[in-house]
Amino acid sequence: MPAYRYPVPPAHEITPQAAWLNRRALMAGLGAGALTGWGGGALAGLSLPEVADWPGSTDEALTPFEVATNYNNFFEFGTGKEDPAANAHTLRPSPWAVEIAGEVERPLTLDIEDILTRYPMEERIYRLRCVEGWSMVIPWVGFPLSLMLEDAGLTSRAKYVEFFTLYDPEQMPNQTSSILDWPYREGLRIDEAMHPLTLMAVGMYGEVMPNQSGAPIRLVVPWKYGFKSIKSVVRIDLREDRPVSSWEARQPREYGFFANVNPEVRHPRWHQATERRLPDGGRIRTEMFNGYAEEVAHLYEGMDLTENF
Ligand code: MTE
Repeated sequence: MPAYRYPVPPAHEITPQAAWLNRRALMAGLGAGALTGWGGGALAGLSLPEVADWPGSTDEALTPFEVATNYNNFFEFGTGKEDPAANAHTLRPSPWAVEIAGEVERPLTLDIEDILTRYPMEERIYRLRCVEGWSMVIPWVGFPLSLMLEDAGLTSRAKYVEFFTLYDPEQMPNQTSSILDWPYREGLRIDEAMHPLTLMAVGMYGEVMPNQSGAPIRLVVPWKYGFKSIKSVVRIDLREDRPVSSWEARQPREYGFFANVNPEVRHPRWHQATERRLPDGGRIRTEMFNGYAEEVAHLYEGMDLTENF
């Protein structure tokens, strides 16, 4: 685990670093979960291997762990921001497997335990901006999705990737509601999926992924609105044709396939020019591609981003 080198923002905004480190030490001693309120299920025998530092991390102030894990969107556990933390204890992150299928040379099924030891883990501090207008800064632990896709070997017909969340109303009780067409599905174009910033995250804040944050493994695409970052992934399908995500299927005018953070393209019901940095950082200007334009703008050259929003 890298030495923590978080900036220390104003005291009212964040758990002081000393308290954070102290809690980490306590958790190590007591067994994590005892103090965190994320429910012992999240740990289900899983632990992170060594995690390397990643030089590209943002140095903005971290969102406190308590905020990042108590203000969530995870509709499988309810539509309120506090529902996932309250209800996601029913999710069992182990045993868990991720299947990679479709247009691949070698279809693969990997147990979460294999994934945790097979891929080199890095801590990457990324911004996450939700289409609803709030944003956070989170230290994820994960590895580039490209490594997994390369293991499966892409065929020349692999143009898109479709991701599926678990479907199991026993573990995810709100899947009995009709708010979305379950299981939650998301998609990327193959160049987006293979981009080195596209992360499969297995942890955050130095610990395995809390249930409400998408245990045991989720996608994190830092230049796209949060809804693209699908949680609790069980299947990754390579396809020739463009998939339709759950949100796009429900409200195509509001949730486009590309979902790139773009202050110049309005959501039909509100502007996207600014965001509220949680917990109470006030409103800040939203940056094109969530601040990752230098790395990703070339993927969209020649595309009309008001059409392809
Ligand atoms: N993944 C699943 N399976 N179900 C969901 O409801 N919500 C999405 C995304 N991934 C969602 C999901 C939305 S709308 C956002 S903004 C992010 O998760 C929120 O991630 P966070 O709760 O870790 O901040």
